[in-house]
Amino acid sequence: MRIEVPHDTERLGAVLVHGVQKVFELDSSLLESGTEESKIDQIIRPIAIQACHAIEREMAIVVPVHGERIKLVEGVLCGIPNHCLTIICSNSAREPVDRYAIELAAFLRYSHFTQKRLIIVHQKDPTLAEAFRNAGFPQILDERDGLIRSGKAEGMVLATVLAKLAGSKAIGFVDSDNYFPGAVLEYVREYSAGLSMSNSPYAMVRISWHSKPKVIEQGLFFARYGRTSRTTNRYLNQLIAEYSGFETEIITTGNAGEHAMTMALAMQLDYSSGYSIEPYHFINLFEKFGGLDERALDREMIRQNIEIFQIESRNPHMHDVAKGDEHIDAMAYAAMRVIHDSPICPPKLRDELAEEIDRLLGRNLVHGEGPTAVRYYPTLSGIDLEAFRATIRQQPYATHLLGDASQPS
Ligand code: GDD
Ligand code: MG
Repeated sequence: MRIEVPHDTERLGAVLVHGVQKVFELDSSLLESGTEESKIDQIIRPIAIQACHAIEREMAIVVPVHGERIKLVEGVLCGIPNHCLTIICSNSAREPVDRYAIELAAFLRYSHFTQKRLIIVHQKDPTLAEAFRNAGFPQILDERDGLIRSGKAEGMVLATVLAKLAGSKAIGFVDSDNYFPGAVLEYVREYSAGLSMSNSPYAMVRISWHSKPKVIEQGLFFARYGRTSRTTNRYLNQLIAEYSGFETEIITTGNAGEHAMTMALAMQLDYSSGYSIEPYHFINLFEKFGGLDERALDREMIRQNIEIFQIESRNPHMHDVAKGDEHIDAMAYAAMRVIHDSPICPPKLRDELAEEIDRLLGRNLVHGEGPTAVRYYPTLSGIDLEAFRATIRQQPYATHLLGDASQPS
């Protein structure tokens, strides 16, 4: 991969947010170490495929699934390199038709043919709920039925624990409703290329889509940002600007569903529920390591810095768009909520967000449980991994989890 070195960076305490990086070549060919090409100080840096593979071999790719068509998910699996551990976390319906059983059969067959290391779990598996309970992380359980709560974030948190148990050193997420397997492969390569550029053990890569094609008047229009992303980015940038005193457009990935991070960072973040998880990454990092709040300063992490890379992918992002306006509004609401509710949100921005949230609620389009719907989960660093492992040991999905999670990542 040939990729631009970030030339613009905003710093908030220990958090470095790098400006968006363009990709110049998806494959910059094999590079011999020591040659002119492989030197790492160019403005545009070639990253050898070997360097990407080395990171990918230790990276788990998580595919959250909620009732997607199997053919679509199979395309996504096809785009994930064979050497990545793949974790499918499904919250698909089990009745009246057991869609999960159909998924399981199809994906197991797929993994048999490709010899892909695949972990497939259902979010509502009672043993996984028990594992969280035994591991001292009951916050993720629904008090009504004692099972793991629904939501994309909840599935991601579960998958993060599984990846940690499997010994993965990094974790990446790819939505399961992507129509282009080639785009999925590109995202994974950008994850490894981005992580390889970091000097810190605490690094994150977020994909900034180059374009999202839409059909407008019988032609294709390549939009740059969706409605939600536009507002989320604006508010996150406003937050940075209020602290720095300089207007900025640095954040372009406020809602990036496609992102990856080192396991060391994944274990230190707090998470928030549902679709608010991605904007909350920024908020939580600024809260904890931005130096804006006296609380919870982890000396070691502050010394190391936390690096956020934003890489502009080349493939158009084409996903299932049949999810409607209510869904978009609920996502925008969740993003605004986590910014608004943060103790580091400056008063002026909070007022603006409160107005916008009221307007959205007034439109009566936000479905779900209303204003209290966003939940927060503590970091996974306190979880008893061995208790979790012992609880699920007999389950068929535990095959790839028999490493020793007590090893530092
Ligand atoms: N395991 C699990 N559990 N997966 C879920 C759940 C759940 O409760 N709900 C949704 N998913 C899966 C979907 O099947 C899909 O693969 C992925 O999570 C994203 O859900 P979508 O419903 O397709 O979201 P979207 O396309 O509107 O939004 C995506 O892009 C946004 C950026 O534009 C998401 O990734 C957002 O998180 C992201 O902010
Ligand atoms: Mg989608």
